[in-house]
Amino acid sequence: MPLMEAVRNTRAVKTYSDALDFDKAVQARGESFGQMLALNEIMSAPPKLEAAAPGAKRVAIMHVGGLAPGMNTATRTVVRLAIAQGHTTLGIEGSFRGLIDGKVRELGWEDVEGWGFSGGAELGTRRTIPTIEQFYAIGRSLENNEIDALVVIGGYNAYLSVQAMVAERDRYPAFNIPIIVVPASIDNNLPGSELSIGADSALNNAVWSLDRIKESAAASRRCFVADTMGRHCGYLALMAGLASGAEMVYLDEFPPSLEDIAAHARQMVRSFENDRRLFLVVRNEEAGGNYDREFVADVFAQEGQGLFDVRHAALGHLQQGGEPSAFDRVLATRLAARAVDELAEQFATDDSDARFIGLDHTGIVSYPFDDMKHMVDTQKRRPKNQWWLALAPLISAVSLDDDSVELPELKYFTSTNPVDNA
Ligand code: F6P
Repeated sequence: MPLMEAVRNTRAVKTYSDALDFDKAVQARGESFGQMLALNEIMSAPPKLEAAAPGAKRVAIMHVGGLAPGMNTATRTVVRLAIAQGHTTLGIEGSFRGLIDGKVRELGWEDVEGWGFSGGAELGTRRTIPTIEQFYAIGRSLENNEIDALVVIGGYNAYLSVQAMVAERDRYPAFNIPIIVVPASIDNNLPGSELSIGADSALNNAVWSLDRIKESAAASRRCFVADTMGRHCGYLALMAGLASGAEMVYLDEFPPSLEDIAAHARQMVRSFENDRRLFLVVRNEEAGGNYDREFVADVFAQEGQGLFDVRHAALGHLQQGGEPSAFDRVLATRLAARAVDELAEQFATDDSDARFIGLDHTGIVSYPFDDMKHMVDTQKRRPKNQWWLALAPLISAVSLDDDSVELPELKYFTSTNPVDNA
């Protein structure tokens, strides 16, 4: 946006407010401010309870995938916005298994009170993708519970599950309802969304831990190797590495070879010889296959004998835990609100599309499920194009201070566009 236009708009807020023209003041704040204001007004005051509106639907919500902070926030948003539109909302407890077992209960306005900021997943979440044998029971349960639409809030397995259901729509008519998937995974590996719900909270948790690890190591000359979660997606590792000032980051997108690890060990030795006290290596948990954290730490320890010691740890499940960050709460609200808009559009036109919601540089977007196959690396379970990989070269640019060291050819540190060069 042109700078002067932004300045003019910002100044106009005061002018409009002074003139009591609040609509214009809100407009001058920008589009998303107006949207969030409207959402907040709906969600903070219960709607007047009237007889079910004509055309009212039964909207069911469930989670599939690993736990991601912000799942509850997204559920609360779907419940309240759908109720405000006159629909009935149902919570499915325990993912597809729960649906098969009939664990479906109505979720009212009050039921989701406090869910906006609570960690965990009140509805429970499982990773299991339903099998063909379970489809009949799922279809029966959708019919028995008169479910008109499904919102699935979860990770990669949520996408795979819905993709499988879409492929079987001809055989199971009950699957011909609007199905919307909202991205929630700490791994940030979901198609069509630059960020998924939970990734920011997990990143905050990871950086919190790395900061403490660095403090603990400051008293000695030490290399610390720490694993982040993320499966095959390096988002958490790279961002946690950048935020904590790590000297090196290992990503599964650019897995280190044996030669790389040996070169890094030599580089580390030179760095400690030049009075370094701490060398932090952040690894994605899958980076390097058999060259795992223990192996890498052993190589560094062997090479560094006497000069520095080496410790290693997996940051572990604390990354999934805790209350969602402020950013994740807002993101969950925006994405879930778009899911409800999507349902409203489909109800109005009598459609029954399966779509997934995402965040990109233009705002909140929605894609047909057919697009998914073009967008993901199915083997690695991550998007083909990951915007944040372009930040990988910053690790060496900002962390390695030793100009005399001749850097080995580190493709994952030096490429300006690692995606194209992969
Ligand atoms: O997919 C989310 C995730 O947290 C991964 O980052 C991690 O590898 C995995 O789940 C841990 O799974 P679990 O909680 O079942 O141990």
